[in-house]
Amino acid sequence: MVPNLNHWSLEINEDNILWLTFNRKDSSVNSLNESTLREFDQILDRINEQSEIKALIISSGKKSGFIVGADISQFKSLSNAQEATELIREGQKIFNKLEQLKIPTIALIDGVCLGGGLELTLACNYRIAHDSPKTRLGLPEVKLGIQPGWGGTVRLPKLIGAKAAMEVILSGRTLSAKSAKKMGIIHEALPLRLLLKAARHYALASIDKPKFEWQKYTNYGLSRKILGNLIKQKLKQKVNPTHYPAPFKIIENWVENGITLPKAMDVEAESIGELLVSETSRNLVRVFFLQEQLKSLGKNIEYKPQHIHVIGAGVMGGDIAAWCAIKGFNVTLQDQGPHLIGNAVKRTYDLAMKQLKEKHLIQQVMDRLMPDPKGIGISKADIIIEAITEKLQAKQELFSMLEKSAKPQAILATNTSTIPLEEIGMVLDNPHRLIGIHFFNPVAKMPLVEIVRSQSTSQAEIDKAGAFVRRIDKLPLVVKSKPGFLVNRILFPYMLEAMSLLEEGVSPTIIDKAATEFGMPMGPIELADAVGLDICLAALEKLATSKDIVVPEKLKTCVAKGELGQKTGKGFYQYKKKRALKPKLLPTETIPNDIKDRLVIRLLNEAIACLREKIVSDADLLDAGCIFGFGFPPFRGGPLHYAHSHGLQTLLEQLKTLEARYGARFAPDKGWELGEQA
Ligand code: NAI
Repeated sequence: MVPNLNHWSLEINEDNILWLTFNRKDSSVNSLNESTLREFDQILDRINEQSEIKALIISSGKKSGFIVGADISQFKSLSNAQEATELIREGQKIFNKLEQLKIPTIALIDGVCLGGGLELTLACNYRIAHDSPKTRLGLPEVKLGIQPGWGGTVRLPKLIGAKAAMEVILSGRTLSAKSAKKMGIIHEALPLRLLLKAARHYALASIDKPKFEWQKYTNYGLSRKILGNLIKQKLKQKVNPTHYPAPFKIIENWVENGITLPKAMDVEAESIGELLVSETSRNLVRVFFLQEQLKSLGKNIEYKPQHIHVIGAGVMGGDIAAWCAIKGFNVTLQDQGPHLIGNAVKRTYDLAMKQLKEKHLIQQVMDRLMPDPKGIGISKADIIIEAITEKLQAKQELFSMLEKSAKPQAILATNTSTIPLEEIGMVLDNPHRLIGIHFFNPVAKMPLVEIVRSQSTSQAEIDKAGAFVRRIDKLPLVVKSKPGFLVNRILFPYMLEAMSLLEEGVSPTIIDKAATEFGMPMGPIELADAVGLDICLAALEKLATSKDIVVPEKLKTCVAKGELGQKTGKGFYQYKKKRALKPKLLPTETIPNDIKDRLVIRLLNEAIACLREKIVSDADLLDAGCIFGFGFPPFRGGPLHYAHSHGLQTLLEQLKTLEARYGARFAPDKGWELGEQA
């Protein structure tokens, strides 16, 4: 029907239904780029010419899912907004052509269906999806600093009403097949065995178009003004429009133009054109690729552990065990007595409820998690993760025993935050087996896991640990076993500076505000309270033995008084129902103008030092570690990327000025002199 197709295959069955299968030839996932869209366009032209075709069913030939969206690598080459808008318009024209076909069109969705993929299906008459955990639908464009551009901001509000559509578009969140059906985005969410049957039914039966429902009124003029304003105010509480303009642009476009064609589509294309070449979007696209880079560790390793044994059922061990059980592993959890494991089991149940919701899935998690006070799992486990109290001798004794009792090929991992692996490994016959698998708190929320390698850790252990971390859906980053590894080491100078400011009498509210205005997810003072001041103090004292650090008196005093932060209801702030009661600023209170610079530059200085010391293997990985490890503002592209775009020389001068004013803690690291290599 259409000669020389690379990415699409066609089959006409006895009912004259055209089955169109998308299987991008040059990629393991289906994404839409110029060449795949050109072919799709040609196919649509031919369908228009062939009157015998009764219906079109579009599906995917990939196991990885339906369509992941537009091919993001295309964005990098766009040089200006006009070029970007033109590219978008081409896609819009093709999807309009699909929408205007005179035959029923059905999208058969199995697996991920995101961004441009979902927009393609919105141009179809019917959407039928496989009701499986792998099916996720959404318009995640805002996460890349852009907006849907192939009709998503027009067709979705038209289909399900503006309120629900805006929620989906502005959050960028993905939906299960069941939720998408409930919201009216898809027509069916079915088990696999019924999918083809249903698609055929929709293709051949004449099914009424959806009725005009009340939600559609939300797109009318006055409703747009009122609703738009409400949505914008709510969004402003969570998102800073200067940092992330895309969602605000989406609301503005919709309020001004609604879903009237062709104007709304034109505005959509122009708007995304501008966003695509913005600094924010370029940095968020960079972050997307950094994430892919982290995901690639251990990708080609054939390693399939089944059983994880976790020792220490406290804050970290309990949550690590819970997370592994939720991700499908059999887990044995050991502590010094059954009473110490009970709390972790209860937390696992709560987390499983939040994550999985369905009773039978929660039950499966609880069946996979086995309390094991006697450590019977040690000799059977494929991976042993130690998360006991941060004491060198206790850890050494434990690993000495583990080396003898564990399977010879089992990974022996520690979750230590501060003890160098070399010190723990001193007691081992084979220290190359010891590795750090360093989770962050809270485990369920923090995407990064540092894989800590000592001088003797073998590459085989690193690869296996990387593969395991990917299997539990976390992002692995290999770091050197030096005090603080990467994330804590970069974070601490910034937190220490915040505490210096506190000691100078600056209000914690101001300090935190300076940091969040820069884009940090939480200010450093609130962060210290959330981590626990006792934990901060212990980590700082450990770091102070190897680095020139003065532990702040204010921190010591709080800990001595038992004011440990959020968990005790008082730390640097007071807490009510776990919320910080931040003192209001007095009208007379002045904000020192170098406050943001002082916080940020110490962080950058440490990042430069870590790169020079090769704590991670390159600058991109360092940026990735900071973004996914402690939330360095993604729209700034990472600390080193930010330093480069800000100008290394300018920052170096700034450091020298601060050093002259405040002393040696601002002394520039030698790495700054390395210039472009930094
Ligand atoms: P925790 O004090 O909450 O829990 C430690 C648990 O280990 C306790 O339940 C204790 O009974 C148990 N334990 C002690 N010795 C044991 C032994 N020989 N055998 C079996 N169980 C034993 O401590 P937390 O905070 O969970 O820290 C654990 C490890 O994780 C430490 O190495 C810490 O540095 C590290 N870590 C802590 C983070 C945090 O935010 N709390 C973050 C990242 C790492």
